[in-house]
Amino acid sequence: SDGFENESLQIDDYAETELISDAFNRMLTRVKAVDDSREEFVSNVSHELKTPLASMKVLADSLNMNPDAPKEMYQEFMQDISEEIDRENSIISDLLSLVKMDRKASDIHMEETNINELLEKIMKRLRPIAEKQHVQLILDSFRPVTAEIDETKLTLAFSNIIENAIKYNKPEGGWVRTSMNADRKYFYVTISDSGIGIPEDSIDHIFERFYRVDKSHSREIGGTGLGLAITRRAIVLHRGAIRVTSKAGEGTTFSIRIPLVYVA
Ligand SMILES: Nc1ncnc2c1ncn2[C@@H]1O[C@H](COP(=O)(O)OP(=O)(O)OP(=O)(O)O)[C@@H](O)[C@H]1O
Ligand SMILES: [Mg+2]
Repeated sequence: SDGFENESLQIDDYAETELISDAFNRMLTRVKAVDDSREEFVSNVSHELKTPLASMKVLADSLNMNPDAPKEMYQEFMQDISEEIDRENSIISDLLSLVKMDRKASDIHMEETNINELLEKIMKRLRPIAEKQHVQLILDSFRPVTAEIDETKLTLAFSNIIENAIKYNKPEGGWVRTSMNADRKYFYVTISDSGIGIPEDSIDHIFERFYRVDKSHSREIGGTGLGLAITRRAIVLHRGAIRVTSKAGEGTTFSIRIPLVYVA
């Protein structure tokens, strides 16, 4: 065998060889699943990276074909091209942070961190975005908490969830409530919103890379579908857990649990 065999083994003479061939076949199935998901990932990445390029190409070509186009048209198209470049950039940064987190836990920098302050910093950074969307940001910290965490990675995780809660909210009078509590082993962060909610048949998929509910309507709301994949990765690296409950049209709640002390 060349080591790339796709055919499963069929040996039924002896019980022992049968066990070995069973184990081998199970392994083959797993290898194949990894291979398939890698292939799907690469094809999704290529697709996502090509979309902004395609728009830029169209914009540049139409300017090239219209040498007498008015100055305003040039300005507008250049502005669009610049936005597409920003988009391409943000997809690439998201991909890099995913890949970085996929590496072993040696990359993780655990430090005793004040979680109340961490959440306040996130609020401060996201408040202007929320105000633009007319969404009220509320933070309830029920007690002072310090925990051994990687500040960069957890900041990214919480920011992604709160950004979603703002983004997928209602046009007027929406709110996002973040609350934090702790017991002797864990701290808990809950992020609830008054937004559009997630349909039941989508809820199991939202943590998948590039998955977005209802592609057509989420087109208007910018995004790549990498945010929650990054978030889950960061939380799992902390030996934490994340759960989501949602009701379409009413809102969504993400519940996160992180150990106060990291056990490698
Ligand atoms: N709070 C929420 N309310 C409603 N839908 C949500 C919420 N959070 C996530 N979703 C749905 O889950 C999908 C995946 O979220 P995710 O953060 O991974 O991607 P995104 O926000 O589309 O893009 P980005 O990579 O920029 O974060 C979203 O496209 C949206 O359809
Ligand atoms: Mg997101």
